[in-house]
Amino acid sequence: MKTIENIMVIGAGQMGAGIAQVCAQGGYTVYLHDKNDEARTKGINTIDKLLERSVQKQRISAQEKEDALKRLTLSNRLQDAEQADLIIEAVVENLQVKASIFHELDKIAPTHTLLASNTSSLPITELAAHTKRPDQVIGMHFMNPVPVMKLVEIIRGLQTSEETFQTIEQLARKLAKTPIAVNDFPGFVSNRILMPMINEAIYTLYEGIATVEDIDTSMKLGMNHPMGPLTLADFIGLDTCLYIMEVLHEGFADSKYRPCPLLRQYVKAGWLGKKSGKGFYNYS
Ligand code: CAA
Ligand code: NAD
Repeated sequence: MKTIENIMVIGAGQMGAGIAQVCAQGGYTVYLHDKNDEARTKGINTIDKLLERSVQKQRISAQEKEDALKRLTLSNRLQDAEQADLIIEAVVENLQVKASIFHELDKIAPTHTLLASNTSSLPITELAAHTKRPDQVIGMHFMNPVPVMKLVEIIRGLQTSEETFQTIEQLARKLAKTPIAVNDFPGFVSNRILMPMINEAIYTLYEGIATVEDIDTSMKLGMNHPMGPLTLADFIGLDTCLYIMEVLHEGFADSKYRPCPLLRQYVKAGWLGKKSGKGFYNYS
């Protein structure tokens, strides 16, 4: 098994910031990289706020908060990958963007470095093919919000080595997460099941069957889901939901995964859910 001490997280959005936080709290040295200045600032502010909440709730001490923050460095240079034993990519759910980052990282990172993607649905095997180390490429799919949710899907690409898998599985346990082993197929397990439900909820709205609130109430009170599907879609990000549905639709070539036109329309309007201030609900 490989030794992991230094972790670089690429993308400081809602997932990247959460991953950086749990890694820093787990005792790892973390570089949190984003190409966007505002995203880096927002990411570190969110981490600070959540750690402070944990101090107030007496889950961690003020010293533990300070130590976690000391282990975190913000990065605006991909070159910082030279320091990393593991890189976890969490940028937008777009194959071209991720593939080009993997290609760059492969050139910069030392030969021992493992490359993981937090992708929700995209093929790990294909990302691995953009590197010269496909055996060291793997999916490490955290759930949102990362500090709260226990699951991590660990996805083996076609060429992922057993050593890479074991190293990442052990890391997930060290971060107090519960890993599951998944093979590389569109949407893996969690989103293959979750996203068609969310898409169906959007069709239910689109076809005028019920209001946004009543669709959510149906699943919250009828099925005991913590959030209704439309609230959850807003929480995940409607752009991310659409990208995942497109991957399922294309990957399985099955019309049952057709993204709802209303979802497409909202994304085109820039209504991306909570992160943009408007989705199925308003957040201003
Ligand atoms: N980040 C960090 N912590 C958060 C948070 C966030 N965005 N939102 C809530 N929390 C924390 C709160 O701080 C609170 O902790 P403490 O009070 O102990 O400090 C705890 O979670 C519970 O929060 P609340 O009491 O405010 O609200 P809640 O009981 O409704 O729980 C929730 C919030 C945990 C998010 C819950 O609503 C839930 O589980 N929702 C469903 C989440 C889900 O399905 N996630 C998976 C999304 S799909 C995915 O991730 C995969 C993909 O590829 C798209
Ligand atoms: P987000 O939009 O909140 O954040 C993405 C971040 O990546 C942004 O800050 C952006 O500036 C940055 N970025 C984009 N291109 C970049 C580049 N070339 N170099 C450096 N940084 C770049 O998105 P998110 O919700 O955090 O999702 C990120 C990934 O995690 C996606 O692959 C998504 O599918 C996956 N994911 C999302 C969720 C969810 O619920 N939102 C859950 C699990 C997995």
